[in-house]
Amino acid sequence: MTGPLRKSVRFWLNDELVELADLPPTRTLLDFLRLNKRLTGSKEGCAEGDCGACTVLVGRLAGDSLVYESVTACIRFVASLDGCHVVSIEHLRGAEGGLHPVQQALVEHHGSQCGFCTPGIVMSLYGLWMANASPDVDDIEEALQGNLCRCTGYSPIVRAAFAASKAGGQGKDVLVAERASVIEKLEALRDGRRVEIWGDEGGIILPADVNDLAEVLAEKPHATIVAGSTDVGLWVTKQMREISPVVFAGHLKQLRMIVEGEDVVSIGAGVTYMDFMPVIERHFPQLAGFWSRIGGQQVRNMGTIGGNIANGSPIGDTPPALIVLGAAITLRKGDKRRFVRLEDYFISYGKQDREPGEFIESISIPYPGEKEHFAVYKVSKRRDEDISALSGAFRLRLGEDNKVAEISVVFGGMAEIPKRAAAVEKVLLGKEWSEANVSAAVAAFKQDYQPLSDVRASAEYRLLASQNLLRRFYLETIGEGSELKRGAA
Ligand SMILES: Cc1cc2nc3c(=O)[nH]c(=O)nc-3n(C[C@H](O)[C@H](O)[C@H](O)COP(=O)(O)OP(=O)(O)OC[C@H]3O[C@@H](n4cnc5c(N)ncnc54)[C@H](O)[C@@H]3O)c2cc1C
Ligand code: FES
Ligand code: FES
Repeated sequence: MTGPLRKSVRFWLNDELVELADLPPTRTLLDFLRLNKRLTGSKEGCAEGDCGACTVLVGRLAGDSLVYESVTACIRFVASLDGCHVVSIEHLRGAEGGLHPVQQALVEHHGSQCGFCTPGIVMSLYGLWMANASPDVDDIEEALQGNLCRCTGYSPIVRAAFAASKAGGQGKDVLVAERASVIEKLEALRDGRRVEIWGDEGGIILPADVNDLAEVLAEKPHATIVAGSTDVGLWVTKQMREISPVVFAGHLKQLRMIVEGEDVVSIGAGVTYMDFMPVIERHFPQLAGFWSRIGGQQVRNMGTIGGNIANGSPIGDTPPALIVLGAAITLRKGDKRRFVRLEDYFISYGKQDREPGEFIESISIPYPGEKEHFAVYKVSKRRDEDISALSGAFRLRLGEDNKVAEISVVFGGMAEIPKRAAAVEKVLLGKEWSEANVSAAVAAFKQDYQPLSDVRASAEYRLLASQNLLRRFYLETIGEGSELKRGAA
């Protein structure tokens, strides 16, 4: 361990310093706000991160700057807020103490009826307003992907978002005005110590750094690791699972590093979907549409790529794309590290190649070659914030003779793990990349996959959709694909 322990969690809530020495590991921020602090503006609609009624902003220091992100308080554990600034709806105000411009715009544009969703919508739009002074309609829709409104309809809300951005005045905004003092306050909370709290309802550990995380997990190999809590949060709120002791890892800056090399990008396992967005723009533009269909904005702000892999779900969205790109992960236990191809990590349903006490430290992802075709598609019942019925990733390199020199096809949602379509690849390898050969290859999907029928899709639908995605990929590679807008992925 790197130094003396701290036995409390400390963070700023609006303009109050909160210090908690007695804290159950599974206390959610929403319960803390509503039940402990009687700040009842944030609502509970679903308690599973879907509806956005509980949205608040969380500010954290990233290097020297202060970044505010929208999060769903219902699945965010209080312990993970150590060193942060939580901003709830109660903190918003206008320049003269009246309504904030975002709130005022919702009033003027009739963007609220029963009002249940409204605090969450205000906070999401406020997050957008702070990050982007002149959003377009896609930016606004993206900011609202994680906010459900059952009665108003979205047109007045989108109009209000435009009006708020035109109101300008960010210089007078409460968070902008207090930014320098908040940075100072958060810096004062940084002491580089491990935090440990043990009580009747279990244990909380926030390691001081990644070496300390390795030490903690070596001592407590069966502890639950929590990064963004967008999966683990639901184990608690929906399944009432006991998860103590809980080791929080989302705050560790070593797990959020991004190193863009010449051929490969290496990222810490704690890199969130939003952290990764600039890398997508620079190196994987083919992923952009797909990425903005992972969760809603709040989930993308919290959820990590390492968490998506470690969770091992057959319908996790990142593994198919990462496998076709040839990604590998570094697993660490104590001081020992091993390097595993992501393709080999998933063994069977619920079973991955990870020992107790081991954690994913980093992920390395090769860039697709300049002459390669790479695409990822997601099929779900709803365009936004929905789990995939299936997702398919394709990477293709053609030889000079238009013959398939290399092909990789991986699907999620088609088997008990994210799985390569080895039979399909075999039919295509070495053959001319032509409609006739692609049509011949689709029959091989039946050898690769015997999908299940469930609430998301029937087995027949899944099989047909996977075959059609190969056809779509083919058409796109010859320039006949659809114009890809956001959400068409
Ligand atoms: C509303 C909503 C929408 C969602 N939409 C999508 C979607 O569209 N697509 C999709 O794929 N997923 C989706 N998810 C699921 C979830 O957001 C992702 O799986 C996310 O990437 C999980 O990351 P996390 O950091 O939140 O993981 P956590 O919940 O913190 O942890 C998940 C698992 O990973 C383990 N873990 C975390 N970090 C490590 C590590 N470094 N080493 C070892 N184990 C680790 C944890 O112990 C746990 O078993 C959604 C979730 C919600 C609530
Ligand atoms: S209560 Fe629905 S997202 Fe939190
Ligand atoms: S105003 Fe009623 S749910 Fe949105």
